[in-house]
Amino acid sequence: EGSLDAIARRSGRRFGSAINWNAGTNGGSIQNPLYTRIINAECSLVVPENELKWQWTRPAPDTYDFTRMDAIAAWARANGKGLRGHTLLWHRPRWFPDWLNNYDYGANPVQEAERMLVDHIRTVTDRYRGQITSYDVVNEAIDHDTNRTIETSMSRAMGSPEAVIDLAFHVAREQLPDGELVYNDYMSWEPAHLAHCNDVLRLLEGMKARGVPCDALGIQSHIEMFAIDPATGVGPYLEREWRRFCDEVVGMGYKLMITEFDVKDKALPGAIPERDAKIADFTRRYFDVMLDYSELTDILAWGMVDRFSWLQGFAPRDDGLEVRACPYSSEYAAKPMREAIASSL
Ligand code: XIL
Repeated sequence: EGSLDAIARRSGRRFGSAINWNAGTNGGSIQNPLYTRIINAECSLVVPENELKWQWTRPAPDTYDFTRMDAIAAWARANGKGLRGHTLLWHRPRWFPDWLNNYDYGANPVQEAERMLVDHIRTVTDRYRGQITSYDVVNEAIDHDTNRTIETSMSRAMGSPEAVIDLAFHVAREQLPDGELVYNDYMSWEPAHLAHCNDVLRLLEGMKARGVPCDALGIQSHIEMFAIDPATGVGPYLEREWRRFCDEVVGMGYKLMITEFDVKDKALPGAIPERDAKIADFTRRYFDVMLDYSELTDILAWGMVDRFSWLQGFAPRDDGLEVRACPYSSEYAAKPMREAIASSL
């Protein structure tokens, strides 16, 4: 037995979770001793849920504010936890700070956009040098409705989304010659995501062809229960498609990471024991597939305790019940999902 991390380490992997900074003790935060007790017991790795994103670290074009990220970094150091960097660029206008969406790149837009991005990546990687060596360099660069890479103020200034993506990885590599550079995205084996999976493959292929230094694909893994065929209780067709996708990714030489695991249980009827059993089952099936890949390295949950899961707000259940997305309940008790992860690792 042992902690999830101890079990993961038997196959050379690490287990971790998102954590956040916020005032007070009622959160999935470094300030909540009940939360940090679970992190300390199960994880050797943490990732800031929000605190390293531009909206938090860069309030204005030439102003940085690392107060909250520094607090998480200090907590990780004090508690002997590894720290991942999420993210150097969340490539979506929705997650850009307003000032960046409205930014005037001036007479030399290419140079100015490059300056903005390069300065950001250098500032962040310098600040956490020695502590953060694995980064989600670019997060979510493809629009799953249009199947195209997303335009932002920065990509328009630089000429294309690819110009932004490539530069981000090149600068990150300059900064971290031995670091682990990840492209992170939310593809999964649900039907609606299969086209998105293809787009991710094309992006990874293109990066390879252009010599872009990206080491791994981060598979967020916000998995949805409705991928299961209600008749059979499993999703064999989609599982086959999913394996093919992962095969292609590792075939190109990329490693894999599970960066943001949780389960959306919207489609499941309300009774908790049955729901938890189904969620655990689904978790086991997902992990069993992923653990077949020796290329899979770190595994991170997007939060360890249901009550603090972002899904309570982002994908609430229609019946108003709490989403049971995480390995631990809102009462900080291990759930069947936790055992499912433990038994698959
Ligand atoms: C989410 C956080 O959990 C929320 O607190 C925040 O409001 C929005 O971002 N994909 C990602 C993560 O890459 O950064 C997102 O985190 C969840 C989806």
